[in-house]
Amino acid sequence: MNNVAFNLRQYLDEKQSLIQQYLERILQPYDQQRELIMAMGHSLMAKGKRLRPILSMAAAQACGKDFLPALPACCAIEMIHTYSLIHDDLPAMDDDDLRRGIPTCHKQFSETTAILAGDALLTHAFNVISQPEPFFDIYPDDTTRLQLIARISNAAGIQGMVEGQILDMQSYQLEQNDRFSHLKKIHALKTGKLITVSVEAGAISVGADPETIVKLVYYADQIGLAFQVVDDILNIEGNPEIMGKSAGSDVINDKMTFPAIIGLAASKKYAKQLIENAIDVISSFDETATPLRAIATYIINRDH
Ligand code: IPE
Ligand code: IPE
Ligand code: MG
Ligand code: MG
Repeated sequence: MNNVAFNLRQYLDEKQSLIQQYLERILQPYDQQRELIMAMGHSLMAKGKRLRPILSMAAAQACGKDFLPALPACCAIEMIHTYSLIHDDLPAMDDDDLRRGIPTCHKQFSETTAILAGDALLTHAFNVISQPEPFFDIYPDDTTRLQLIARISNAAGIQGMVEGQILDMQSYQLEQNDRFSHLKKIHALKTGKLITVSVEAGAISVGADPETIVKLVYYADQIGLAFQVVDDILNIEGNPEIMGKSAGSDVINDKMTFPAIIGLAASKKYAKQLIENAIDVISSFDETATPLRAIATYIINRDH
């Protein structure tokens, strides 16, 4: 794998369909006519980029290993991410109608069902990691699984995504001072933590050494923040048809975003700097880190 020959589109397509296949397997044992399962499947099987599981796989590869043992964590993280989107779109939160190119879960079903589908995806994610046997041929040992559960639950909860979401919901009330560092904190929590733990989980799943994990975590922190800065930019400049979700909502909801605080041009420059930092910290990695490098660049060039 060298940089010139590496085809990122092909890499993303292959990994997306692999994840799709495993997520399907996970919902398959249940009665597909039950409203709960239909609602979970509606959001989970829709066309997401699968960035987080792809990062886990790429991180496992950057540790010089096969990515297969990372698959249980990949699926669990994508289920948690999907739950966060379902709840994020609810009327009590961002009140959005479109997600992943289709109606949001509460629009398609009901608010009650959407809340419960989110709850079930979150809960079932931990069932998948702790009991991977029915779905995966290769999976980490018990101790590693426990470590994955500890790290992922930490990133998704009180010190991670959920805390970021509540700070985000309250952000319009903030004073003017120090808004930049506060916004960085919100973004690092609401989006960054799950992205960082995706990379970390890939490395943990294949038994990476602590020094490698420290570098990968720094890489992930930088791209995670850049990812949300780009999300803010796309909410202004993006094409809703390509993005599969509505644009313009941040301004309408008076959200604190990077473009709102430092402007569009400075936001783009900032995202670029973060991506350079990420690529720098893994400069000592060999060609096995080619996918991670390519994904970092993709994050600022993406249109959805
Ligand atoms: C959207 O995440 C929510 C944010 C954290 C910005 P993604 O842009 O990864 O959404 P999907 O998974 O591709 O739908
Ligand atoms: C979503 O953030 C973050 C989570 C779901 C945790 P946003 O509300 O900014 O993202 P979009 O624009 O709805 O995807
Ligand atoms: Mg939101
Ligand atoms: Mg939203």
